[in-house]
Amino acid sequence: MLPDAHPVPKPMRAMDLFTFNQQFFDFLESCPTPFHTTSFIAKNLQEAGFTELTESEDWQISSGSGYYCCRDNGSIIAFKSGLESNMDSPWRMIGSHCDSPALQIKPNAIKKTSHAVDQLCVEVYGGPLLGTWFDRDLGIAGRVTLLDDTGQLLVHTIDFKRPMAIIPSLAIHLDKTANKDHTIEKQKHLYPLLCQSHDNNLPIKELLFRQLEDQYTSLATKKILGYDLFCYDTQKPALIGPNSDFIAAGRLDNLVSCYVGLKALLEDYLVDNCLLLCSNHEEIGSSSVAGAQGNFLQTVLARLLPDVPLKNRVMNKSLFISMDNSHAVHPNFAERHDTQPLPLLNHGPVIKYNSNQRYATTSRSAAPYQILCDETGVPHQSFVMNNDMRCGSTIGPIAATSLGVQTVDIGVPSLAMHSIRETTGSSDPHMLYQTICHYFTRSQLPQAGN
Ligand code: CO
Repeated sequence: MLPDAHPVPKPMRAMDLFTFNQQFFDFLESCPTPFHTTSFIAKNLQEAGFTELTESEDWQISSGSGYYCCRDNGSIIAFKSGLESNMDSPWRMIGSHCDSPALQIKPNAIKKTSHAVDQLCVEVYGGPLLGTWFDRDLGIAGRVTLLDDTGQLLVHTIDFKRPMAIIPSLAIHLDKTANKDHTIEKQKHLYPLLCQSHDNNLPIKELLFRQLEDQYTSLATKKILGYDLFCYDTQKPALIGPNSDFIAAGRLDNLVSCYVGLKALLEDYLVDNCLLLCSNHEEIGSSSVAGAQGNFLQTVLARLLPDVPLKNRVMNKSLFISMDNSHAVHPNFAERHDTQPLPLLNHGPVIKYNSNQRYATTSRSAAPYQILCDETGVPHQSFVMNNDMRCGSTIGPIAATSLGVQTVDIGVPSLAMHSIRETTGSSDPHMLYQTICHYFTRSQLPQAGN
């Protein structure tokens, strides 16, 4: 493979590590749910000159312009064609997911107790480390479906932006084996405390009504029809350690990748057609109207490449980089990992391999990413699951299967995956950003021939 003939222009990757992390923290705080992430990304793209497309309308696409399209408020596809690209040009795609394991509020949200408190009724969304949800200042956020006073059906994001509930632990005095054997019964132990009980019920819709009034001053809500609400940790993201070596925050899996994708797509000097997918419902298997098992990406690409033989040719020479956080070695539990050189924090993004294709990486699909790293001076590491443990998966194999596109699974090394507060290195997200910027702006996509 030849080195890049046209080095990346100077303004590229101008954002330094400090600014990058600061803006990343703002992004994390603005995005407590996939609905917020999707609308945050859409707003930023719109401000950068991207045009919104809706799936119910016909599309007129001009080359050199940027576009985005949302589905079900929780997934977004954004793309921009390079100035010199044409219908035949390869697509440089990246995909990530914007949902995280959480506690989702049930339709019948309030449970009255005989102990002077009202509690929230929640379901477990995905696979959270449940123990980490105790003793946290939980906010409530999501989307609300409503009728306004003109009879229009509307969907709005909502975020109380302050602690609204808490799940207190049982005191150690009442649970002598708590530090040894602590089973959490999902149906019994996970009711967050909401408020002191009063004679009058406090219906959840009344709370939502008031919050909507605060957030949307010109909105006249007539009736709230339903909601998709989640609890989240209100603790702010933080740099940790005397040298600020680590980042601790909620939803790092996988908002790191969504943020990197957004920032890279906003760079100038894109060459080929570049595409970002942020997908909802990955944590629950991706089967939904907006999930990666659905037809969102396929239908968008079918509109852009309506000629099927042409689409097949283009996909054959395109690349999909599936970005999702990876496990760094946990120094207290190193024996849980494979014995090979283990992914370390702040040592660069990880290429994830699995012989059963739970990750889509092969030696062939990993090669372009390795080249991108080498050319940007960013180190890369590899991850293979311990043979005695079940390997997770990503949207990578789904993209590879449905599009017939070469796909590589990569991600930022992290600790405490699926905790309410996860940890990653403070340099790794920026390193990933650098390689993805280079991916989008390199004069040619490094790709092996057939
Ligand atoms: Co993930």
